[in-house]
Amino acid sequence: MELTAQDKAAIDKILKFSKDNDIDIKGGKIRRTSSRFCLGVEHGDYNGTELFGVGTDRFIWMAYKPNGIDRIKLFSGNFPDDGIIEFKLGGVPEPKSAAIAETWGRFPYGIDYILRREGYKLKQGIDGVIYGNIPGGGMSRSASLSLNLILSLLDANGIEIKDKMTVVDLAQAVENDYIGSPCGKLDQIMILFGREGMGTYYNPAKRSVDYVQLGSGATDFRIVVLDTGTVRPGLEKSTYKVRRAECEKLVSILQKANYDISCLADIKDEAMYEKIMAEFGESYADLCDRLKYIFAAQKRFYKMLEAWKAGDIETVGQIFREDGTGLRDDYKISGAELETMCDVVRTVPGVLGERMLGGGDKGASGALVRAESVEAVQRAVDTAYPRSHPEFADKYAVHICKVVDGIRVYEGSL
Ligand code: GLA
Repeated sequence: MELTAQDKAAIDKILKFSKDNDIDIKGGKIRRTSSRFCLGVEHGDYNGTELFGVGTDRFIWMAYKPNGIDRIKLFSGNFPDDGIIEFKLGGVPEPKSAAIAETWGRFPYGIDYILRREGYKLKQGIDGVIYGNIPGGGMSRSASLSLNLILSLLDANGIEIKDKMTVVDLAQAVENDYIGSPCGKLDQIMILFGREGMGTYYNPAKRSVDYVQLGSGATDFRIVVLDTGTVRPGLEKSTYKVRRAECEKLVSILQKANYDISCLADIKDEAMYEKIMAEFGESYADLCDRLKYIFAAQKRFYKMLEAWKAGDIETVGQIFREDGTGLRDDYKISGAELETMCDVVRTVPGVLGERMLGGGDKGASGALVRAESVEAVQRAVDTAYPRSHPEFADKYAVHICKVVDGIRVYEGSL
């Protein structure tokens, strides 16, 4: 597989880190894991909805080599202050303990812990160097890193897991059970299954994935990620955790009132929705607002899929925008800087839709933009965003993204 210009630049950096930190990766492999962009239903995964998204070309690269001993030795060029993360397989700190709170090492620790717990006994350690350009908050950096480490360690140990959904579950368990982040499965699915030029559709009822091609004749467009430069703490410390709990609470209230549902996505029927709103809209106004978003977004989801298949990217953009107002006003999971980005780009002709991305509060917003309008978007952001948020003037970034393979492995380039 041929290296892209981005790959080559990343490998140059990795080689320098390996030399400076004396980590031997000569003759090893490089595994590249992507970021993801969700077209729907954002915040739907833990509410049981179907999902649709793509892999995008901001990545984590890991260059690694089995080292013949039972120790892991890793360096991340993104967190040089954490130094080299080194440990004996099976000898990692307790889940969710203070020892792991402040280091990126919690990811490799968590992978060793979860793989062992699930019966995959790692014997072979690796030496590796990691570098990534995925902005934090909105593009699934943590899922990308978890998948990269899991796949690389399994590979180094000659363990093959045929069912890819099992790998998704393992990566989610690393975050849920070891790190303590209450994430769903959206990120892992969109990255692990991501395919160049294709949309990935996930059906939770069947745990199945299908690829959906954008219909022919679609307007040439770009996925633009608008990194606000803000830093979001883990989902466990964010509004995300509160929203998850609220949604679960509403489900249990409705179950007690004899509604036959197991998640908010089960409320698809208009009459049932109206009845719930009439019964609980006042007494549980906030919880019903969360349902309002999920109900409307789920309805729009099917229209969005049809529009995607028909190559009608204008409608996909319009729905993306409507999802954005629902996430802002009903689900209330956006943030000031995220909305500034949306407000700025919404005024630019050729922007088909925009909204906050991912977990919420901070991080990145996204937009679907006609190809010829991308420069105008960049100019608008450069002009307006730093005026609204001067504290992030040297931290924000605009990423113009392509739809790419979620996972790639390169051999013979180290
Ligand atoms: C984060 C979580 C995902 C998903 C999204 C919102 O990225 O990790 O599981 O819930 O937020 O759609």
